[in-house]
This record gives sequence, C-alpha cells and structure tokens, in this order.
Amino acid sequence: MRIVTFWEEPTGTSDRSGLTGPPEIPEPPRPQRQRALRARLASLRGATLGMLSAFPRVLALAWASGRLLTAGLAAATVLAGLTPAATAYLARALINTVAAAIKAHASAGPALVRVPLPLHLPPVRPAIAIGVLVAVQLALFAANSVISAVSLICSELLQDKVSLHVQHRIMAHASGLDLAFFEDSASYDLLNQANTQAVTRPITMISSAFGLVQTAITFVSMVGLLAALSPPLALLAVVAPVPAFLADLRYGARGFRLSMWTSPARRRMDYLSQLITRDSYAKEVQLFGLAPYFVERFRLIGAAFYRQQRRQVVARRTAAPAWNVISLLVGALTYAYVGLSAVSGRLTLGDLTLYTAAAVALQAAVQNLFQGASAMYENNLYLNLLYRLLAIQPTVRAPDRPAPLPTVVRGHLRFEHVWFRYPGSENPALADVSFEILPAQTVAVVGPNGAGKSTLVKLMCGLYRPDRGRVLLDGVDVATLDPRELRRQFGALFQDHVSYQATAAENIGLGDLDRLEDDIAIRLAAAKAGAENLLRGLPRGYHTPLGKWFDQGVNLSGGEWQKVALARAFMRDVPVLVLDEPSSALDARAEHEVFERLRSLAAGRATMYISHRFSTVRRADRIIVLDAGRIAESGTHDELMHAGGLYAEMFGLQAEAYAGVVAGHNGNHKEN
Ligand SMILES: Nc1ncnc2c1ncn2[C@@H]1O[C@H](COP(=O)(O)OP(=O)(O)O)[C@@H](O)[C@H]1O
Ligand SMILES: [Mg+2]
Repeated sequence: MRIVTFWEEPTGTSDRSGLTGPPEIPEPPRPQRQRALRARLASLRGATLGMLSAFPRVLALAWASGRLLTAGLAAATVLAGLTPAATAYLARALINTVAAAIKAHASAGPALVRVPLPLHLPPVRPAIAIGVLVAVQLALFAANSVISAVSLICSELLQDKVSLHVQHRIMAHASGLDLAFFEDSASYDLLNQANTQAVTRPITMISSAFGLVQTAITFVSMVGLLAALSPPLALLAVVAPVPAFLADLRYGARGFRLSMWTSPARRRMDYLSQLITRDSYAKEVQLFGLAPYFVERFRLIGAAFYRQQRRQVVARRTAAPAWNVISLLVGALTYAYVGLSAVSGRLTLGDLTLYTAAAVALQAAVQNLFQGASAMYENNLYLNLLYRLLAIQPTVRAPDRPAPLPTVVRGHLRFEHVWFRYPGSENPALADVSFEILPAQTVAVVGPNGAGKSTLVKLMCGLYRPDRGRVLLDGVDVATLDPRELRRQFGALFQDHVSYQATAAENIGLGDLDRLEDDIAIRLAAAKAGAENLLRGLPRGYHTPLGKWFDQGVNLSGGEWQKVALARAFMRDVPVLVLDEPSSALDARAEHEVFERLRSLAAGRATMYISHRFSTVRRADRIIVLDAGRIAESGTHDELMHAGGLYAEMFGLQAEAYAGVVAGHNGNHKEN
C-alpha cells in the first residue's frame, strides 16, 4: 500500500518559488474511472489498517500520559456506549407495560390488573410498574449526565496531557539530536511537522479513538438488542445506512487527498502572514515596500484555496443526499414492515419503539464509525511521523566507553588530515586540513566566504565528525570522548550566535548554567567582553530584559548583542576559546579592545579567531589561510606577507581600500 506522507506535495510545475509562484492549487490526481472501485476499496482498506494500527498506539500514548484519566475516560466511554441500548430497552418496557395495562383493563376489573415487569420479575399493579420503570429511566438519565460530565472532564484533561506529553517527548528527543539533523532541511521539516501538530493532533486522537470505542459499543449492543427481537430487523437496520456511507467514504477519501494537496498552499499562506506580522521581518518589508505585494499574494492563494475547498464541499454535500435517498428508502420500507408486523401482533408496540430508536442510533453509529475510521487513518499518519522522528538517532554519539580527558586540559588542538563533506553536498567543505593550536596560542583563521572556517569550529566542538582524519584535544581523539564532556572544554562565540529573550545577566550566565545567578562571575565575563559600560547603562542594569518577546525588554544593536554573546563565551573558564567572526558586528574600537584583552585573557587558553579584519588578524601568533576547504597558507603575518600569496593579496586589498577611503575624503575636501 502506498503510504501518503504529510509533506507529499504536487511536484512544482513552475520554476518559481512558493513565495512568488502561481497561486493556483493543482487538482489532486483522481483515481481513474475503471479503477475507481478498486481505489475505493483500497482506501477503505487503508482506513481500516490505519485505524487498526493507530488505535493501540493512541491508547498507549494516552496511558503513558495519564493512567487515571485514561481509565476514567475508558469507563465513561463504555457506559456511554451502552446508554442508547439501555434507553431503548427501557422505553420498550415502558410502552409494553402501558399497552399490557390497557389491554388488561379492558378485560378485567381495574383492581385486578397486574402487568409483567421485564427480567421475569413478578407481575405488579400498573401504577407500580410504571412508577418503577420511570424511576429507573430517571436514574438512567441522571447517570448518563454524570457519565458525560466525567467523560468530558477526562477527555479534555487527557487531550491536554497527551499534547504536553508528545511535545515534551519531541523536545527531549530533539535535544539529543545532533547538528546534522537540524541543518538538514528534510529532517528539520519532519521535526517541525511533528511539533506543530503536537498541539492539536492529540485532541482529535483522543476524541476519535474513544469516540470510536463508544460507537462500536453502541453499535454492538443495539444490534444485539434488535437481533434478540428480530434477526431480520437487525440486519436491515445495519444495511440501511450503508449506501450513504459508501458515498461519504468516497468523498471523504477525496477530501483527505485534497487536504494533503492543499497543505503546501496553506504553508505558503502561513509564511506570507509571518512575513507581515513578525518583528524581525518588519524592517526590510517596509523598506522594500513589500507589504502590499505579500498581502495580495496571500489574498490570491487564499482565494484559490477557497475555490478548491468550495468545489469539494459542494460536491460532497450534494452527493450525500442523493445516496441518502437509498438509505431512506430502505429505512422507510422497514418501517412499513415493522408497522405492519405490529398491527398483526407479531411485534409489540414496545418493539416498534425499540426499532425506531435502534434505527436512528445505528444510522448515527455507522456514520460515526466511518468518520472515526478516517480520523484514525489521519492519526496514524501523524503517529508514523512522530515515531519516525523519535526513532532518529544522533550520529555524533558518546562512545560506549568514552576515553577520559586529562584532569587538566591544556588546550592543545590538532587537526590531522581532516576531510569533511556536509551530508547531501557535492564538494567537501574541508579537504585534508592539518594544523595545530598550541596551548595559550592565538591562531587567526582567514579566508573567503564559504572557505570552511565555521566548519572547522563545528568539527572542533564535536558537532560533526570528520569523514576522514582526526581532531585531537590534548592528544585525545575527540571522537572517543563523550561529546558533552568535550563541549565543556570550549567557550565559543558562533557566527550566528543566539540572542536569548531574557535579562542581560541571564544572557551571559547561560554560558555556564551552574553560575547562572552568580552576579560576580557575570560581571567579570561582561568586563572581559568589554560589555560592562553597555550593560550598566541599561535602564535596569544587568537585570534589564533584552528583546521584546516577553517583557518590556530593551532591544540591542547587532554589535551590542554580539558583545553580550561574547561575554557568554567568557563565562566559562575553559582551555579553548573559539570566536567566529566576532568582528562582523563589533565596531573597530570594540574589536581592538577585545583582541587586546584576548591576549591577556587567553593566557593559558588556546584561542581560535576567525575574522575578516586584517588589522586584528595580523597580531595573532599564527594565521591560517583557508581557501575552498584547504589550507592555502599558514604562518605569522610577516611570513605570509613575505610569501606574497593569498594572504598578502587580501591584506593588500583591505589596506588599499582603507587608504582609498582616506584619499577620497581628502579629495572631496579639496574640491569643496
Ligand atoms: N549545513 C550545511 N549543509 C551543507 N553545506 C553547508 C552547510 N554549512 C555550510 N555548508 C557549505 O560548506 C562550505 C563551508 O561553509 P562555512 O564553513 O560556513 O564557510 P565560512 O568559511 O564562510 O565560515 C560552504 O560551501 C557552505 O555552503
Ligand atoms: Mg563562517
């Protein structure tokens, strides 16, 4: 059987992106006419299989999320399922009693009339019989309302619990996955899908699974009751709703396919609405005047989506009555038969009532069964997605017996013939890279964009493993270490560092979770990063919330955020410090100060410094020039300048540019 996945999408007919491409939603492929029946059967089988395999998984998930609630809901569901049959049975008894009393009244004196009670109880006076039956009925209705209250409480709470449970499991699992997972769009999409739906999917999962149980119980008990009365009637009641069903199934399957098909359109709309409503996009969107364009795109795609939806809804809802006629016809004929049977005395008046109630209940039950089945089919697709995600194991994992690090790590880093290629890309990002950083040495890495500089950092910190070659820390292959242990040895400022929506102090303290509330350590780290003045000048000093998501926070400039991130890197007292383009957002003086301080702070630490600013780079102990994943040159500034290679060329360009700017200014002055 073909498994329909959630992200199965029509193959693009246009070479334009989802942002600008045509808004039309292509028609989902229709099963061919001659194969329609087979397709319908296949979809029926798919739904059944989906239902059968989803059911135990939903129950297991509910049970794992809350045992008491699951048990409570199960009990309430069973009782609620039995209620329609019990009600119908009582109604029949009541009417039969009344009919018997009327009949007896006519033949005997009122004082002598005795009527039988159900369950072979001794005959009693009609008033007593009716009183008992009404009391039982009252009790049943009361019990029913209690049951439905319990069922609502349990199911609403359970839905929340399952949703939290699933979200928690996804989070816990994602936290153990490695960087490769997040940097691969397909797997990242899987995570996103599983996570987005984790909020709403459990609601349908719980309600459809338990609804299905309830319906099944109602169905079986009703059919049982009818069969006890008259087997042909039971058969008729079951068969009558079937034609309407088949119609519904056909359109239901189509609707399901269609909703798959329109999901890219919905995602495009979501994206467009984000572009308009998110703070981080507002600046660009306003400057380039993109808002009206995006709003119009949203409208167009929305309109196409609506047209598709309308066609589907109208087709489904107009087809149903046509098919319903058959069901109604069967129903009417049976009613006639039942009525005639009652007249001829083969069935009692009570039986007639029972049949009426049963026919209505069964009709609804069959409908619910099918709807429940198709909901379970969708649940099953989600569960497949979820378990596929949960089954993904990180590739960078702690070895079974991790090697120990020396008690004092000196910070001696060594790359030995390291090759690395990102999964799915053609060219290696690093090719045969060998170099070392001695303890307390400051090494600068330069090179054009895409040369592989940031990749060096990722391999060093054990975020990826080299394809070939080794990375050693103090002589120990980092692949043999527990990645968490390894990462504790690094302080890092990543090129795309995080701006936490938290206070300034917390933003820094997160660099060493154990000292999150250690104000002295935080101030010290801020001082090392040259962020002291900045943070002291904030309205509430170090305890000023940064970012505007939660509190009335303060927004910082790019460079200011970077200083905070740098301070975070300094929170750790570690043997190796890695700074990936800290100068990209720092102003020239800030960078100068940082580097000056680095030299004193770095005492005892190995420091790797990636930068495009040669005024800083030149002062490193050693400079590595990376080009297209290979080490092109390395040495001190003087050595490299002397060699007259790539470094000298890049240095010259930058120096010339600065000189040019100065000359240009002078020129202007003269003209003025
Ligand atoms: N997650 C990734 N998946 C695939 N390719 C990547 C990924 N990250 C970087 N690359 C590619 O690897 C090469 C080196 O990237 P990077 O190390 O980030 O360069 P830079 O020297 O600018 O820091 C580039 O060609 C880039 O396109
Ligand atoms: Mg980079």
